[in-house]
Amino acid sequence: MRALSAAWDEGIRFFDTARSYGYGESEALLGAFLKDRRGQALVATKFGILPAPQSSLKWMAKSAARSLISMVPSARSLVRKAAGTQFSPNQFTIPVLQQSIEESLRKLGTHYVDILFLHSAPSSVLEQQDLLGAMGRLVDQGKVRLAGLSGDPSVVQKALERQTEPLRAMQFPCNVFDLSSALGLVEKSTAEMLLAANHPFGGVARVQACRSILRRLSATPHIDPVLKEKLGTIDDQTLAEIVFDCILRDTGIHLVIPSMMRVDHVRANVRAATHSRFTSAEVQIIRDSLSAEHSLPASAQ
Ligand SMILES: NC(=O)c1ccc[n+]([C@@H]2O[C@H](COP(=O)([O-])OP(=O)(O)OC[C@H]3O[C@@H](n4cnc5c(N)ncnc54)[C@H](OP(=O)(O)O)[C@@H]3O)[C@@H](O)[C@H]2O)c1
Repeated sequence: MRALSAAWDEGIRFFDTARSYGYGESEALLGAFLKDRRGQALVATKFGILPAPQSSLKWMAKSAARSLISMVPSARSLVRKAAGTQFSPNQFTIPVLQQSIEESLRKLGTHYVDILFLHSAPSSVLEQQDLLGAMGRLVDQGKVRLAGLSGDPSVVQKALERQTEPLRAMQFPCNVFDLSSALGLVEKSTAEMLLAANHPFGGVARVQACRSILRRLSATPHIDPVLKEKLGTIDDQTLAEIVFDCILRDTGIHLVIPSMMRVDHVRANVRAATHSRFTSAEVQIIRDSLSAEHSLPASAQ
């Protein structure tokens, strides 16, 4: 709730959630936060991964996990891994869609969602004309403003190539570890399609790895001194500027979705998105050296 308040105060109005996030509680939390703000916010949610029913034992385990994370933030990836077994993925049927959207609307306390994504969809979903038709009817009914797909770049690419109806929004991972496949999607896209990049830092586990790559770049002998000075020690602010610039600057991607539970991360990210110090030419140098680094064999990295 503190992170949400900070995000709102900093001007963030787009929120990405899912039926399964927060062990099924994320939508209700967001709904409570948006109670008197819904008209000013854009809300995306997803269906296709179901949270497991909660027992009182699991509630206790969850609050123990929360305390652990607040004391040892690096434990979050461990907790996430353990929580991964609590979900049923790949639930792409019409009954699940119908139950899920009603539950999402109830938990979010709203009559409509701005985007409903198929959550981590495999490419076989693109053959499910009945399911896609049912998503289209939700759009016609006004319960969903845009239907979308969230998945691997390979699945998104197929959806874009086929111009799959009624999908008008695509969400896919895009970060410094793999910019090229995501950026390739833009070429396949049309002007009406909303493109949203998630996982921009590479997730909890890769934030440090991301920083190390950029430090190595800063230490290369031929680097321009002005760029080197801007890179500095790659603090959170600089890291965010580079991550968002690489994804958003002149790429055609419209939206970036980082996880930001910490208030200082929210503030650094908003500052980065609104006041980047890097020129377009510098951003291109950084992109080029990141992709060169990734074309090295693993032993040389
Ligand atoms: N299939 C899907 O639909 C799908 C899959 C993956 C992700 N997503 C969406 O994308 C969002 C982000 O993905 P993600 O959490 O996997 O990856 P991420 O945003 O790349 O990484 C999140 C990590 O970066 C940290 N961070 C944020 N800002 C930072 C900064 N300025 N400096 C240093 N560290 C920073 C976060 O810390 P704190 O959180 O502690 O502040 C967290 O540990 C998810 O929340 C979800 O909405 C969707």
